Amino acid sequence: MTTQDLLQTIEALTTRALRELQAARDLEALEAWRVSYLGRRGQLTQMLRSVGALSAEERPAGGAAANRAKEALESALERRQEELKATALERGLAEERLDVTLPGRTLNLGRLHPTTQMVREICNIFVSMGFQVMEGPEVEWDRYNFEMLNIPKEHPARDMWDTLWIDRVDDLGERTMLLRTHTSPMQARIMEQTRPPVRVVVPGKCYRYEATDATHEWHFHQIEGLAVDEGITFADLKGTLYELARRIFGAERKVRFRVDYFPFVEPGVDMSIDCFRCKGQGCSLCKNTGWIEILGAGMVHPKVLEGVGYDPNVYTGFAFGLGPERIAMLKYGIDDIRHFYANDLRFLRQF
Ligand code: PHE
Repeated sequence: MTTQDLLQTIEALTTRALRELQAARDLEALEAWRVSYLGRRGQLTQMLRSVGALSAEERPAGGAAANRAKEALESALERRQEELKATALERGLAEERLDVTLPGRTLNLGRLHPTTQMVREICNIFVSMGFQVMEGPEVEWDRYNFEMLNIPKEHPARDMWDTLWIDRVDDLGERTMLLRTHTSPMQARIMEQTRPPVRVVVPGKCYRYEATDATHEWHFHQIEGLAVDEGITFADLKGTLYELARRIFGAERKVRFRVDYFPFVEPGVDMSIDCFRCKGQGCSLCKNTGWIEILGAGMVHPKVLEGVGYDPNVYTGFAFGLGPERIAMLKYGIDDIRHFYANDLRFLRQF
């Protein structure tokens, strides 16, 4: 072979190689190309070997040409690699592209249940007056729900609370456990555990064995309040609950206290507010009386204080119990307490 022949072959090979390289569409094709031209048995590699067959004078020129061709192919390969990588990246970006102009999907945002909202509003009012918030068990002993509240067995006052009993009896065959009918058992539990001063509100769920209607649910919430200290009087009870009524139903509200009976308070009262809808003129909301009853309250009974080891000659206190669902019904004009627990989003979303 002459140098002339060799140079021509190299030139032809280079042209073909570069054309094929341009046609390679992915990294695999590139690798195949590299093996085919620059690999150990590659076409250009073999050509380089054939330089050895040239005569001594021809060898330098042939060798130089072959080396140039090798360098040219190597750098062309590198460039093509970069190119392919760049297009792959572009394609990836194109696939992952987000159309930020698409309208978003509406998120279904949850919210607090109206009872929870009301409970928090009321508790916050008492917290601002220095009360603590505590919670207690929903499954309760007869002892706390009744006995310690001055309601012994066979006491007719037990008829005031329709009770759901737990299937469990003591040695005498008496039922001992129940679903609490009110939050008042926490009065005894708290006083048993602490010494005065006591200022606490207790929100929680209560249960009664009751036929349901627009104003009665078999489960509902109460918020209990208790303040015990030296020198607490009925005036403190009135002032505190007056503040509550005004904060929830408006600063111009009037309140009315009437004597009522609860075995664990003496005296016992119920508190009403003047009807905020008719301003006391009489309407369907207040059943034409001008007044709406919102809670029960009273001065803690000396027997209850004695029962928890407080000396009634030293300590006095007041207690109250209210129903947050009932307060919410009045405040928002809800006509049926069963709406609260029917899980109808059309109702719940309004709050
Ligand atoms: N626990 C009573 C009830 O459920 C309400 C109440 C609480 C009354 C505290 C007076 C004092 O009816």
